[in-house]
Amino acid sequence: MNQPTIDDWPSLADAMASEVRRAACLRNDALFQAFAAIPRHLFVPTYYRTETNADGWDSVTGIVDESHPDWLTTVYSNTALVTQLKPIEGQPSSETYTSSSSMPTVMADMIEELGIRPGMKVLEIGTGTGYNAAILCHLLGDDAVTTLDIDEELVDLARERLASLDYHPSFEPQDGTYDRILATHSVDDIPAEWLRWGKPGAVILTDLRSPANSSMGAWAKVAIGRDGSGAVGALMPARGYFMGARRTPEFAHAGDTTPEFTDDEHRTRANAMETRPTKVPASVLETGDFGLYLWRQAPEIRWFASSGTASLNGPRAESWAYVTEDSVHYGGLEDLWSPVERAYSAWEGAGRPGISTWLIRVDKSGKATIDLPPRRGR
Ligand SMILES: C[S@@+](CC[C@H](N)C(=O)[O-])C[C@H]1O[C@@H](n2cnc3c(N)ncnc32)[C@H](O)[C@@H]1O
Repeated sequence: MNQPTIDDWPSLADAMASEVRRAACLRNDALFQAFAAIPRHLFVPTYYRTETNADGWDSVTGIVDESHPDWLTTVYSNTALVTQLKPIEGQPSSETYTSSSSMPTVMADMIEELGIRPGMKVLEIGTGTGYNAAILCHLLGDDAVTTLDIDEELVDLARERLASLDYHPSFEPQDGTYDRILATHSVDDIPAEWLRWGKPGAVILTDLRSPANSSMGAWAKVAIGRDGSGAVGALMPARGYFMGARRTPEFAHAGDTTPEFTDDEHRTRANAMETRPTKVPASVLETGDFGLYLWRQAPEIRWFASSGTASLNGPRAESWAYVTEDSVHYGGLEDLWSPVERAYSAWEGAGRPGISTWLIRVDKSGKATIDLPPRRGR
């Protein structure tokens, strides 16, 4: 087959829309039509080619633009495409992904999960390329869509691209306005302003993810209370991972990392440990959904668990612990394994429930906590 040209974009978009319909099990024909109608190539004039190594780490291997033979077909494939890199906060010589065009099936899945339909006002947090905003404008009409991004450079580009299709969504959210809010970056709690921007009863869908451990997270779908303060809802296994919220437009957020220690500091910490037995082995941190529950119960504890042992650090690394199958070695301000034992006893007492049965409550400041379901009678 000949190499497709820009003029072939409608048939490429149509094929991608069919793939999205199949892969995301779309029932919503209007959403299929939106993917077929919007020229994704206008929103992704360049992207970074990435590769995943054997340890699961991604790295950038080149930049692809319209002069590259793969550009057009990749843009019309069901793939997430990295579109921006920035230095990591506090590590000026490093760079990581700060924006992308999300995977089309994940975009479709979020829109379906939120039951977005004409007549609703929708706020998208994380404009990025503007492609998802264009899909929303096609579905709802541009006066029903607001989109925002922390990065004004991205907002300006997206505004231009959307205007070239005669879409003019708002970029300024208004209080009490939206029926649905969807976020395309992850958060560790729900930002309080999202609660303010939604109408009472509005539904928010976001990827709730630990800034210290990006493999730990879930999608949260919560409805804002009728009095407008706080929200309640459910968690579900993440059907797509999103990049973490940035704190500034200039930098990628480093996530919450544990400080590096010198050999001397390691020795001092190792010498200042007490030891006690435990009935809760370190391997519980590698078990099912318990890690996620513990993160919600004690978000300030950072841990790394592997092969039946775990190392833990408290806030600012003022407490530390090393745990095996039956003993806890701990030092610093507090015994960090005690909160883990308490959380484990609650989770086990509830019958080790999976995340889909948990209730998530968001207070008016946005802090999210989990209620486990009562244990079922036998
Ligand atoms: C996965 S990309 C968005 C994809 C986008 N919806 C599209 O269709 O191209 C995530 C976006 O979230 C934005 N972002 C990150 N932190 C943010 C924050 N605190 N507030 C608003 N936007 C943020 C990033 O700048 C980035 O553009």
